[in-house]
Amino acid sequence: MQKQTRRGSTLPGYDPAESKRMARMWPDFVKMEKRMGKEVPFIMANAPNQKPLVFDACLGCGATTIGLRLKSGASVVPNEIDPDMLDVAISEARKRDIRIRALSHDWRSIPSHLQGMFDMVTCLGNSLTLIFEQEGRLRALRNFASLLSPKGALVIDERNYPRILEGRFSQSGEYVYCGIDKVACRVVHADETQVIMEYEHLQSGDRALLRMYPFKRGELHGLLREAGFENVRTFGDYQERFSPDNVEFFTYVARVR
Ligand SMILES: C[S@@+](CC[C@H](N)C(=O)[O-])C[C@H]1O[C@@H](n2cnc3c(N)ncnc32)[C@H](O)[C@@H]1O
Repeated sequence: MQKQTRRGSTLPGYDPAESKRMARMWPDFVKMEKRMGKEVPFIMANAPNQKPLVFDACLGCGATTIGLRLKSGASVVPNEIDPDMLDVAISEARKRDIRIRALSHDWRSIPSHLQGMFDMVTCLGNSLTLIFEQEGRLRALRNFASLLSPKGALVIDERNYPRILEGRFSQSGEYVYCGIDKVACRVVHADETQVIMEYEHLQSGDRALLRMYPFKRGELHGLLREAGFENVRTFGDYQERFSPDNVEFFTYVARVR
């Protein structure tokens, strides 16, 4: 079974029985203040100006949107289709005196009136991996490209799946998902077609599973090019010089020109 989104379509990768527990534990898994310390400077270093208008394609519990709002001059339009995540994001934002109003578009069907409006699109936290069909991933990336103004950039990441498929998953808590003291994350299944991770909240004992499509080496980079991004820079754990065998996340800064 798949979960109903705010717009009545289905959300891939999520099991409805798990998703409330997942949303509840996500802020502890993210550890927002630690994450924003590295994520916000990285995004802003790649911004076309110091006050970019950002479309945060996957608000989740608020990590990127709240980080940018607190620590930069960016304006952010968040987007979230999972009502459980949105509730958590609103509550996390409120704790920090921020008000959130989110759009709720499936990345595969973003309306044309938003085209060309944004200096940046962010799709972070290993999110595109939740779409299992290649055509759907490509459509999402084409839509992200269409949202950008001429000098705009998409910032998108993925876990280092080749490492995971070799049985070398690691989670240092230094990048993206920083709350390893509160939420344990382990790979319970990995093959070429899917990776399933189990998240366990170490205090509440809550558990949830997430199913992901494992990008092969170079696959997301190739897909970005196919979607029309001509200029794609790759970073490993936010560094431009890195060893692909040793990093936990790849982040891409992709520009149409
Ligand atoms: C792994 S969470 C990451 C959330 C947040 N960016 C973070 O880093 O914590 C993935 C997010 O992608 C969203 N998502 C998954 N598939 C989507 C789709 N097809 N369209 C729009 N959002 C989607 C989910 O609702 C969820 O918030």
